[in-house]
Amino acid sequence: MAGSSGGGSAYEGRTFIARSDFLPFFRPDLGDAEIAAVTEVMRSGWLTYGAKVREFGDACARYLGVEHAVPVASCSAGLYLTLKAMGIGPGDEVILPPVTFVATLAAVLHCGATPVLADIDPVTYGLDPAAFTAAVTDRTRAVIPVDMAGHPGRIAEIVAAASGRGVQVVEDAAHSFGAEVAGRRVGGLADASVFSFYATKCITTGDGGLVTCRTQELADRVRSLSFHGMDANAWQRYGDKGRWYYEVLTLGWKMHLGDPAAALGLVQLGRADGFLARRSAIAARFNEAFAGLPGVTVPSAPADGVHAWHLYILRIDPEIVDGGRDRIIADLTANRIGSSVHFIPVHHHPAFADLEARYAGTLPESERHYREAVSLPLFPSMTGQEIDDVVTVVRASVTAGAR
Ligand SMILES: Cc1ncc(COP(=O)(O)O)c(C=O)c1O
Repeated sequence: MAGSSGGGSAYEGRTFIARSDFLPFFRPDLGDAEIAAVTEVMRSGWLTYGAKVREFGDACARYLGVEHAVPVASCSAGLYLTLKAMGIGPGDEVILPPVTFVATLAAVLHCGATPVLADIDPVTYGLDPAAFTAAVTDRTRAVIPVDMAGHPGRIAEIVAAASGRGVQVVEDAAHSFGAEVAGRRVGGLADASVFSFYATKCITTGDGGLVTCRTQELADRVRSLSFHGMDANAWQRYGDKGRWYYEVLTLGWKMHLGDPAAALGLVQLGRADGFLARRSAIAARFNEAFAGLPGVTVPSAPADGVHAWHLYILRIDPEIVDGGRDRIIADLTANRIGSSVHFIPVHHHPAFADLEARYAGTLPESERHYREAVSLPLFPSMTGQEIDDVVTVVRASVTAGAR
């Protein structure tokens, strides 16, 4: 576990404010409209893939400004299905940054392909285009840039570098629903982009995801693979014009979305702009409160684009603030405020000891990020008092830790 604090700290944390209740790291924003939409689906009796999934996919495509969008069971499933639909398998190499959730790596490994780790950019915390091009070999088939925290990173440079080298770009857009680059939403920038609608994400379906594809052909393959490679889904078989006969055209999986989740997603999609505005306002308030504090780096926003602000990640330099980010986490905990770390680099997990051995000491920006990063609570339903409490505790913690 090189560069890891092992999730622990000797520092106990100090109390700076009196909170009567715990402020969680995330609280979903679900209202009566979401409950009514799911109830309506349940009353309809159609609980699996049906009209709502298709409506949700079409509505997401319109929102993102893309032609092809396939709702799937999760972003994890979508990443895997997309690589499989691209024909990636044993002998192929897929490049990804280590600072990501295990799902990005798992998709590659489940395909039987070889993961190749390339370092992150110190400003966007996403894949560094120079590290990507240095890692390309004649076996590289795909690259998975990760839009860390909702920052679309340097996706345009990566797409430009990949095209011409025969490398497919599968953007891990789990965090970046609503993000933009030069006036275009994430979803229409890469060969495929895969979003997450997990409970904590920008919009949620409980569990769920979406794959947007540049071509109809890829979208059709992802859709088919998400439903056992069958040529007819439940709607086509059991709807009023359905017929019982179907054929399995290729070996696939059961990884599509269902109507109750899609109904929830349709309501959340209608609120996406409001959520984004609120997330952006909270991030702006945090930036203002923390920029200029010694040893603290606030997150960057895209120069010509929109940040989705799924996460708010501060970096704390342990050379300047004694105890570094572990001090901040301990103080937040002592003051009844949740926090997190995004992410434990994938090669540090015990399951991937072979990657740890291969990459030890070769990914300095990723290791530094892991040493210094702390994620603060940021979600649309945070109250003004809750935001103030986070600001007060982080500022007090950094000041008390000044070396
Ligand atoms: C970067 C990243 N990729 C993929 C995933 C997987 O998303 P899901 O939970 O929808 O499978 C996550 C989830 O947190 C993530 O953070």
